[in-house]
Amino acid sequence: MSESASQLPVAIAGTGSYVPERVLTNSDLEIMVETSDEWITTRTGIKERRIAAEDEFTSHMAVKASRKALEQAGLDPSDLELIIVATITPNTLTPATACYVQHDLGAHKAVAFDISAACSGFLYAMKLAERMISGGTCKNALILGAEKLSAFVNWDDRSTCVLFGDGAGAAVLKEAEPGGGQILATDTGTDGSQTDLLNIPGGGSACPITLENADQRLSTLAMVGTDVFKQAVTRMRDSANSVIERSGLRPEDIKLLIPHQANLRIIEAVTKRIEIPEDRVFVNLHKYGNTSAAACAIALDESHRAGKFGPGDHIVLVAFGAGLTWASAAIRW
Ligand code: UT7
Repeated sequence: MSESASQLPVAIAGTGSYVPERVLTNSDLEIMVETSDEWITTRTGIKERRIAAEDEFTSHMAVKASRKALEQAGLDPSDLELIIVATITPNTLTPATACYVQHDLGAHKAVAFDISAACSGFLYAMKLAERMISGGTCKNALILGAEKLSAFVNWDDRSTCVLFGDGAGAAVLKEAEPGGGQILATDTGTDGSQTDLLNIPGGGSACPITLENADQRLSTLAMVGTDVFKQAVTRMRDSANSVIERSGLRPEDIKLLIPHQANLRIIEAVTKRIEIPEDRVFVNLHKYGNTSAAACAIALDESHRAGKFGPGDHIVLVAFGAGLTWASAAIRW
C-alpha cells in the first residue's frame, strides 16, 4: 500500500453486528453462583447475555458481522484493502484473528491485523483506519470489535461472570462523499500505570499456564470493579467532551451518545456529566452484558438500523477499558 500526503475526509459506509443464539439470563446465573437477578440488575443493568457455542470462535462472529456491514456499504470483500479486528479474546495468540476473517471473507487484497485495547479497541481501530484512509494508505477499511469473553470468564467467580457476554460488530470506512457524513474527531488515551485493575493475568509470556498453576484459573478475567468504575466515569466524560469540542459541537447538537456498555450506572454518570439528555443515549447492555471491544460496535449497528440517527445527525461514541484505555469519536452521519 502506498502513502500519499493527502488528508481526505472519511465516513462510515456500513455497519453490521452478530450475537450468538444462546441466551444466558440472570436467573440461569442464580443456579451457577451465589447471586440474584436483583443484585445484577440494580448494580449493572444487565438482564441477560449471549454465549457463543463451543465451536463458534471470535472470527466466526466477526465474519457474520462483517458480511452485514459490507452488504450495507455495497462493497465486495475482494475490494477490501484493510481489516482491523479489535479483540482481547482472539481465536489463537497468533496468527491474528483478522487473518482468519480475511480468509473466510475472501478479502485477499486486504492487509489484516489485530489490535488489543480491550473495551476501547473498536474506537482505537476506527481512529487508525480513519487516519490510514485519510492519509492515502488505503481506500477502504473493515473495522471490527469481536469477543468470545465466555471462554475467558471464571464461571465460579460471581464478581465477574455475571458481567460479560459474546458478540461482534463491524463497520466499513471509506472516503467521504462531498457534503456527506464524516468522522469529525477521534480521541484515544492510555494509562499503563494501572494494568492491575483489569486483566487476564495468565496465558501470556509473563505467566504461561503450566500443570502446576492450571487450577488457579489465571487465564480468566480479574477486575477491581470499584476502582475501574471511578476511572471509567472521568475518562469517558473527558474523552467525549474533547471530541465534542474539537468538532465544534455543543452537547445539544448530539443526536445520540453511544457509550461502552459495561454498567448502566457508569453510563448514567457519564451522561449526566456530559449534559446529554437520557433519551439521547443508546443502551443495549440489558440484552448483551459487557462485550468489551464489541460493545460500541454492536451498539452502533443496532442504533443505526433502528433509525436512531440518520444523514446529517451527529453522534458520539465513547469507551473505556483495561489498560487502562479510553477512546471516543464524533461523527456526522
Ligand atoms: O468494560 C471495562 C470496564 N469495566 C467496567 O467499567 C466495570 C466497572 N465496575 C463495575 O461495573 C462495578 O464495580 C461492578 C458491577 C463490577 C460491581 O459493583 P459494585 O457496586 O462496585 O460492587 P462491589 O464490587 O463493591 O461489591 C459489593 C458487594 C460485595 O459484597 P460485600 O463485600 O459488600 O459483602 C460483593 O461481594 O456485592 C458482592 N457481589 C455480589 N453479590 C451478588 C459481587 N458480585 C456479586 C454478585 N452477586 N454477582
